[in-house]
Amino acid sequence: MARKIIIDTDPGQDDAVAILLALASPELEVLGLTCVAGNVPLDLTARNARIICELADRRQMPVYAGCDAPLSRKLVTAEHVHGKTGLDGPTLPDPTMPLQDTHAVDFIIDTLRIQDTGSVTLCPLGPLTNIAAAFERAPDIIDRVQQIVLMGGAYFEVGNITPTAEFNIYVDPEAAKIVFAAGAPLVVLPLDVTHKALTTQPRVDAFRAMGTDVGRAVADWTGFFERFDKEKYGSAGAPLHDPCVIAYLLQPDLFSGRDINVEIETASDLTLGMTVADWWRVTDRPANALFIGDVDADGFFALLIERLARL
Ligand code: BDR
Ligand code: CA
Repeated sequence: MARKIIIDTDPGQDDAVAILLALASPELEVLGLTCVAGNVPLDLTARNARIICELADRRQMPVYAGCDAPLSRKLVTAEHVHGKTGLDGPTLPDPTMPLQDTHAVDFIIDTLRIQDTGSVTLCPLGPLTNIAAAFERAPDIIDRVQQIVLMGGAYFEVGNITPTAEFNIYVDPEAAKIVFAAGAPLVVLPLDVTHKALTTQPRVDAFRAMGTDVGRAVADWTGFFERFDKEKYGSAGAPLHDPCVIAYLLQPDLFSGRDINVEIETASDLTLGMTVADWWRVTDRPANALFIGDVDADGFFALLIERLARL
């Protein structure tokens, strides 16, 4: 039986690749896409999610708009990485499929209550506002979550939006604190992993060589956001962050990590949004996350290319 997931997302080119990977994979049943403000404001992330579904020819996929701002802070966006639309790169048609009337937070709550306990996995690819809002409003759903597998945080890589914070956690640290403290089984794919999954030229060429609309779009997307990271890091390509979440669900043996304690900094101006990960287990704080540290990058891209070619 396919594993049921909800993808909570702020597309974002790398979110787009993650969504396509999930839609291409029969092992996963995507119950819906819930959108959140992050890389760009909510109206654009909700639009982009539908562009992606239409590219994959999945117009029936329910797409929900959620929170348009962090729980208690002003929204920080990342147009400098993702472009004005959040999905800059290829020219894709405006979406015509509808946005659902239900709020994303209500959809998350209702779905977890309706589905069997332990049968729904949450896959957050953006700031954790929607998930935290759902947990705050309906704490009964926390025990019903099978697993949360999220992209966010960093230990060895420390930060990308500030010297000490990763973007998704930094945008809504209060939400991250709620999710990391909730007690649901948690798997974290931090920058430490995603910075090993680089879109090198041969990998981008392989997307383009598919000769499909999806292959061309993915090559154009990665080509677009690469320019920023290659210049910043002097690397051979850009980290392909969010697809690591879906790849972990499909092939966890590509990844390795440690069960450790991870706390979120919410008070310090200097280190706001830092994921204080006890990688070396120097405290006796209890483990609350499987914090991934390594990935077989060639295996990851082989999976991605094989799956995206199906669309
Ligand atoms: C994360 O931030 C966003 O810009 C990406 O989509 C990814 O989810 C990486 O820090
Ligand atoms: Ca994202």
